[in-house]
Amino acid sequence: MNILPALEILRLELTRIRQDLHAYPELAFGEQRTSDLVARELSSYGVEVHRGLAGTGVVGTLRAGSGNRAIGLRADMDALPIQEANTFEHHSRHDGKMHACGHDGHTTMLLGAARHLAETRNFDGTVHFIFQPAEEHGGGGCVMIEQGLFEKFPMDEVYGLHNWPGLDLGHFALIPGPMMASTDHFDIVVRGHGAHAAMPHLGIDPVVAGAAIVQALQTLVSRSIEPVDAAVVSVTQFHAGDAYNVIAGEAVLRGTVRTFKAETRDAMEAGMRRVCENTAAAYGASADFSYERGYPPLINWPAQTETAAGVLADMVGEERVHRQFPPTMGGEDFAYMLQAKPGCYVFMGNGQGAGMHGCMLHNPGYDFNDAALPVGASYWVRLVEHCLNKAG
Ligand code: NI
Repeated sequence: MNILPALEILRLELTRIRQDLHAYPELAFGEQRTSDLVARELSSYGVEVHRGLAGTGVVGTLRAGSGNRAIGLRADMDALPIQEANTFEHHSRHDGKMHACGHDGHTTMLLGAARHLAETRNFDGTVHFIFQPAEEHGGGGCVMIEQGLFEKFPMDEVYGLHNWPGLDLGHFALIPGPMMASTDHFDIVVRGHGAHAAMPHLGIDPVVAGAAIVQALQTLVSRSIEPVDAAVVSVTQFHAGDAYNVIAGEAVLRGTVRTFKAETRDAMEAGMRRVCENTAAAYGASADFSYERGYPPLINWPAQTETAAGVLADMVGEERVHRQFPPTMGGEDFAYMLQAKPGCYVFMGNGQGAGMHGCMLHNPGYDFNDAALPVGASYWVRLVEHCLNKAG
């Protein structure tokens, strides 16, 4: 592996920052201490600091040479409402909050890259280091865009990165096209007519109608969506009644829908509405269906994916760059940035499980693997030096 020696030397310092961030996790839009730390670090490297986009968002700008090309590198800063199970020294000091997705590591790697690039300036153009709030909940990246991220900081391309437990340290995965799914959710209120449970003929049972709706929704993916496309509908809540002997008047169903394509997303929403309303009607009930769109699918741009893959292959070797990685139905708000600008998002191996590193994301035993800090920071540096090539 061809990690920058200067970043290997910085590893202890980066580990200190990462573990400090881990110990003081902050939730969506509340990343005050974190953004203070980011701004302080960037300033100390000589990077120009802009604060306030999406509240706690920070953008660091670094220029070198006279080139007019610009790229953005993005890290997320927020933690999750999870009670940490780890007992190591840098465990969360904030009850019920935890860096269980490694955003502490993402933030630190981007700081490491900023520091190195500020020292070496071996590029020609402008780099914007984007530290966004609220990736887990609230779409902080989308809010930054709405508040003028790309107008205030014009850039040609934007790149993102996420650690991936189960993928070996020093390995990366990236694919052109859809890599992560849209994350929508829905509410269905099935209205029937309450009755004595021993006299069902006097009522309209919303539980039976609701159960039929749950079953029928599952046929949408198998019968309405092209087999080689992918979609998930999961009914995750079903609430009705509170007695043994009373037929409820209504039932509430909720859940999530994941898709990779805009047209599949539209088809799922329309199909679900049709199934809910008509299935309820078949039982003499009615259904109010509401569908809320969350993050769009994350779609990598082919040319930028090729660029990132080339940079990674030079760095870790072609055999450690996984270009056939299966897409995941998880969501990611970097999708908004890729809707606005060409770019690429990659998964970086977090290792197989020394200690608790093998935990999947959002697990109370998860921890970012500090050995990955120089790896991710090196990728950022090499990507900048490639995209803003002095000779180019
Ligand atoms: Ni995450």
